[in-house]
Amino acid sequence: DIKGFVFDLDGVIADTSVYHSKAWHQLADELGVAWSDDLAENLKGVGRMDSLNLILKTGGKENAYTEEEKEKYAAKKNTNYLSLLKNMNASAILPGISDFLKTLEENDYRLSLASASKNSPLVLEQLGLAKYFEKRVDPTTLKHGKPDPEIFARGAEVLGYKPEQCIGIEDAKVGVESINAAGETSVGIGDPKILHEADINFTDTTQLTLANIKAAMKVGEH
Ligand code: G6P
Ligand code: MG
Repeated sequence: DIKGFVFDLDGVIADTSVYHSKAWHQLADELGVAWSDDLAENLKGVGRMDSLNLILKTGGKENAYTEEEKEKYAAKKNTNYLSLLKNMNASAILPGISDFLKTLEENDYRLSLASASKNSPLVLEQLGLAKYFEKRVDPTTLKHGKPDPEIFARGAEVLGYKPEQCIGIEDAKVGVESINAAGETSVGIGDPKILHEADINFTDTTQLTLANIKAAMKVGEH
């Protein structure tokens, strides 16, 4: 039986993946690396330094900077990101998410957060959603980023549940891969062509309801 839900944050709970994207786009322009939709997609779910490395690699500049310079650029992106967050409020919560979280709470499911973002506590507070998440995986304690299973495996562990008792929810391809590799049921939010490995796919958060998940899981049993 499913007892826990392990959530990604950016692009699942809130519209913040757009802010991450904007901030990286700005930095890519400064570094002279061409921005593209593919690059934006590939950056979803990827940690801060890994994201910078991916941008540099895309532009053929992987050896252009020292570690120290890279730290500075990563910090610059974060400053940009934080300034975009300043005016964010509950209106950035994606449609249907508040109701979904309430329903999960009413039905005694327990929730943890498996976001690679170091800013996730701030974002949850600012959105007024921190109370729903009993536990959070601290990404600074992880050895590997998504698609490695570590973060989603930990998301179940912190709740005291086995992976098969948990559903993981993600908008990034690497995130769905992480959930699957951890042995949890994966719900992908977004383009089914990109998230084809998800056990259950919804094109957007308005379809993310407990009833829809239960219905999809029943079909999967046969
Ligand atoms: C999430 C987002 C990524 C972001 C990463 C690190 O995975 O999807 O876009 O790069 O977190 O976030 P941070 O806030 O720590 O830079
Ligand atoms: Mg995400």
